[in-house]
Amino acid sequence: NTIGQPILHASAFKQATGEAVYCDDIPPMINELYMGFVLSAKAHANILSIDPSEALQMEGVHAFFSAKDLPEDRNKIGKTDDEVVFVAKTVTSQGQILGVVIADDQAKAQKAARTVKVTYEELQPVIISIDDAINHKSYFTGFNNPKVIEKGDVDKVFETAPHIVEGESRNGAQEHFYLETQCTLVVPKEDDELEVVSSTQHPTAISTLIGHALNIPQNRVITKVKRVGGGFGGKEHRSAMVAIPAALAATRLKRPIRCMLDRDEDILMTGGRHPLYLKYKTAFDDDGRILGCEIYLYNNSGYANDLSEFVMERAVFHFENAYKIPNVRVVGYVCKTNLPSNMAMRGFGAPQGMLAAEFMIRKIAEYLKKDLIDICRLNLYREGDVTHYNQTLLYCPIERCWDECVASSNIRERRKEVEKYNTENRWKKRGISIVPVKYGVCFNPVHLNQAGALIHIYTDGSVLLTHGGAEMGQGLHTKMLQVASTVLGIPISKIYISETSTDKVPNTSPTAASFSSDINGMAVMNACEIINQRLEPYKKANPKGKWEEWISAAYFDRVSLSVTGFYKSPYSGYDWKTNSGDVYLYYTCGVACSEVEIDCLTGDHQVLRTDIVMDVGESMNPAIDVGQIEGAFMQGYGLYMLEELLYGPDGTIYTRGPGAYKLPGFNNIPLEFNVSLLKGAPNPRAIYSSKAVGEPPLFLASSVLFAVREAIKAARTDAGLSPTDFKLFAPVTCAKIRMACE
Ligand code: MTE
Ligand code: MOS
Repeated sequence: NTIGQPILHASAFKQATGEAVYCDDIPPMINELYMGFVLSAKAHANILSIDPSEALQMEGVHAFFSAKDLPEDRNKIGKTDDEVVFVAKTVTSQGQILGVVIADDQAKAQKAARTVKVTYEELQPVIISIDDAINHKSYFTGFNNPKVIEKGDVDKVFETAPHIVEGESRNGAQEHFYLETQCTLVVPKEDDELEVVSSTQHPTAISTLIGHALNIPQNRVITKVKRVGGGFGGKEHRSAMVAIPAALAATRLKRPIRCMLDRDEDILMTGGRHPLYLKYKTAFDDDGRILGCEIYLYNNSGYANDLSEFVMERAVFHFENAYKIPNVRVVGYVCKTNLPSNMAMRGFGAPQGMLAAEFMIRKIAEYLKKDLIDICRLNLYREGDVTHYNQTLLYCPIERCWDECVASSNIRERRKEVEKYNTENRWKKRGISIVPVKYGVCFNPVHLNQAGALIHIYTDGSVLLTHGGAEMGQGLHTKMLQVASTVLGIPISKIYISETSTDKVPNTSPTAASFSSDINGMAVMNACEIINQRLEPYKKANPKGKWEEWISAAYFDRVSLSVTGFYKSPYSGYDWKTNSGDVYLYYTCGVACSEVEIDCLTGDHQVLRTDIVMDVGESMNPAIDVGQIEGAFMQGYGLYMLEELLYGPDGTIYTRGPGAYKLPGFNNIPLEFNVSLLKGAPNPRAIYSSKAVGEPPLFLASSVLFAVREAIKAARTDAGLSPTDFKLFAPVTCAKIRMACE
């Protein structure tokens, strides 16, 4: 039984030494050509002409493809109809694809692409920020927008409530900044067959979208991915922006086509996390118990809806974070702007929306002059409580996480030390704060809650396992090896996972929503159990035999040693009209306490210590889960404290690489970083009583933001300013800290 053991990530050493093979590490194919992009340079304009003639005359250039090369009804990308492969008439963002140049190599393709002459007729308005979008009422249509949930009698609560606070929160965008940019290699074969290697979280979508654009049946478009060099949500559908044009070129030229985006192209083309603006009004009683909340959220979705609608839904479902609010009106607008289309990114709207609850709970404590820890604890959900979308919380030990983190961080004592430090220091201040998280798990579109697996056992006893999920560093394959080895009762060394491929397991869901080990694990388990049934007679006949002997006996007895596994999770979905049904299958929760020190003169800060208590059920692999918690925390740290995408009024992104866009580095890791997993909290709703881990801990990094806020309060008090009358919006960069200290 390898479940629960801290098994090393299956390709840890290969990744650390650079030997792991990613898409672009595949050696050049004979006859291979390279694809370069011609991108929109305007945020909103009519295209008057596109002239590739100079490019086509250059040495080594083979072709130019654009909207003219696809029938209009096939020139589509992404989930909804609002996105095209190549823009023909009107661009609505910089970085949209106008065409591609195919040449002998990357340098030639990119050089030639730059000579393609595009003339524009600029249009108004150019909508960049959420405020612009609100002013222009620029909201997507074609679905329920805004997303509204009402529970209880909110208006009445505000008429009668003893106290009311109001406030707002904002966060900026965040770039996925996967180490491996979007990349694809398309190899044409006979009879229209295409082999597509793509750095993608969603091979099925790549095949489906290529199949649709090029009118090829999906049984001839095989998408493969061995590993992804980071996806973080950015390689769900966005990988198709590279894969579809490459597939078009490969079919027309009958030659392999390769393309890997440069970092600046990737940042310009593929979007990132949605900026969100929210404003709330919260009613509470003398004890600080929340009675009701009215809240409006607006996210900046860029030019296309794609997943933005669902990102907003998750924000709307998560704004209350871990606190019970009996009366709620929540309204979420999906805003259309002239920026690259924002996408899924780790947390999927929740890390933005949950800021609401944390700002509001602090306002309440400060208004009543009560202890934040007590006010949080008072409002924390209890097991069996019902959310604003009428879901009963089960297996959600948020209170235990809270109490354990309060104890293990020793926050009450350390707060006194912080106060003492602050009275002794004028230009350096410390702050400490604590934040819970409750994160819903499953895919909201019901049909996605399914998974498949395929297992082959060869006559030497070796096992080849394939399942629907993609490995993107999160350790999914390692967990799947653990499941198979445990069910089959053999060591992991006998089992191998080579790749994820649409010809092995078809119709897969994206590797997303932190849900992949849950559903793929069950499909793997199902396949292994069927194998076990088939081996049963041979084990009975030879109970002391070895695995290889049973396999051999079964083979000679003409038993099939190849099995597909399947799983659908017991999830039936939520009904917006009646605000009923379950939104999530279960919740992962946790609590973090962070202490920081700020320099009031420079605005610099350092995280001194972070303590996390995370509930991941019974961890299938604590080494991987702790790694995911640390990684999610640091990525969240980037969101809340560091990473700032800057746009010009014409939609130009100024931050197109690590030189201008600050990413978390080793120095940003808390000096002391304690992560512990809550014990004795099994989760009957997922495989081996585990829980999803990939996204939930990201929000815990907001504990740093709120600790910095405490430090700023101390600095403002010294300066004779109102300690709380200032705004602090993510990312809380140096400049913002310095300004807030005034
Ligand atoms: N960890 C690594 N190393 N690389 C990634 O790209 N993506 C995150 C998370 N952890 C990611 C990661 C995101 S956005 C999700 S949804 C989950 O992993 C997906 O994998 P899982 O379903 O296996 O948890
Ligand atoms: Mo993760 S944002 O669901 O890929």
